[in-house]
Amino acid sequence: MTKLLIGQIVAFGETAQDLSHDTRGAIAIGDDGRILFRGPLSLLPRAFDLTPREDYGEQILMAGFIDAHIHFPQNRILAAAAVDLLDWLTRYTFPEEALYADPTYAAAAATTFLNTLYRYGTTSALAFCSSHKACAEALFEAAAKRNMALITGKTLMDRNAIPAVHDTVESGALDTLALHKAFHGKGRLRHAVTPRFAVTSTDAQLQSAGELLRQCKGALMQTHLSESAGEIAFVKQLFPNDQDYTAVYERFGLVTDHSLFAHGIHLSPRELSALNEAGSIVMHCPTSNTFLGSGLMPFQGRTKLALATDIGGGTSYSMLQTMGEAYKVQMLTGRKLKAAELFFMSTLGNARALRIDQETGSIALGKFADIIVLNPTATPVLAARHKLSNSIEDVLFALALLGDDRSIAATYVAGEKVY
Ligand code: GUN
Ligand code: ZN
Repeated sequence: MTKLLIGQIVAFGETAQDLSHDTRGAIAIGDDGRILFRGPLSLLPRAFDLTPREDYGEQILMAGFIDAHIHFPQNRILAAAAVDLLDWLTRYTFPEEALYADPTYAAAAATTFLNTLYRYGTTSALAFCSSHKACAEALFEAAAKRNMALITGKTLMDRNAIPAVHDTVESGALDTLALHKAFHGKGRLRHAVTPRFAVTSTDAQLQSAGELLRQCKGALMQTHLSESAGEIAFVKQLFPNDQDYTAVYERFGLVTDHSLFAHGIHLSPRELSALNEAGSIVMHCPTSNTFLGSGLMPFQGRTKLALATDIGGGTSYSMLQTMGEAYKVQMLTGRKLKAAELFFMSTLGNARALRIDQETGSIALGKFADIIVLNPTATPVLAARHKLSNSIEDVLFALALLGDDRSIAATYVAGEKVY
């Protein structure tokens, strides 16, 4: 049924500078979950006079958040203290991901996981699964039920973990091709070829991943790159003939304009040029980078950036908190971000990085109504701070630095209220 959402509206055009703000705005959503109208309530066409409406008063309607990098099977291992990335993977992550071989367990976890995303205002994500095909099937199926734009794939990893999460070159390729056929382009689902990182794949599997990326038409490629000192040293030892970490992925045809690399903290000028020339994306994961002690990643030098929680290395599902931490990390590396830049990154910027901007990422006519309602006075601290805000930029800044799931009043995916 056609419906109307009414409230303050914050919407981006093509850039972070192009922010429009209606203090009393309306969004009309059609039967198909797509946006029919957005503008001041005073200009709402008479045709919507009798349309059922939800009035959110002074709360803010905006595009739902998009998380560019999150691990579905790590939803129980947040805040697991470790010496560094490799220690954390060994002690907590691999054993936890082993549970996702069980389709029943994975299906139950997928429902919980998506409900958690909605509670935090995240309406789309590029996610890692475990290495088990059943894990990816469970997440795809749960997202399809909600008509959600979700991208995932089974993780390719044939060495240096534990047997319960190892695949083989052959099984990894067969499962990847089967998932592409079953889910890519089905409704709003998309597939990503997903080698975990160079440490956990043999040369033969990385070679296969490059071939899979070429065979799986339209698929993205997601992996990890240059996150921690121990990881980088291990890659050097495993691939002594490659000039640097990025060169390993280049050699196997994995550095492309459909490629997304999580972290990318310690990249050399050569590596940065290689990524930028290819049009690859670097996903900034500030809460994970500080929690695991991986490093402070400057935005400088990276032309295509996305923003992500990296749950469970990251410590919050909240893209608001992730924006706040990104702000602090950039302050430490010499750049002062504006709230509009952070909110743009978390919505249309990430939609572009994930190549789903034709259908989501902004409140624009014809796109799916993936919309959240933000309460700028959700807590006593926010309410007190809100009294001093004198511009929409300032309201958004306070939300990015002080907000969390309590600031999310409602979440809509393709026009349906899911939270
Ligand atoms: N590198 C390889 N796997 C992972 C993972 O699961 N999390 C993080 N943060 N880095 C990784
Ligand atoms: Zn990750």
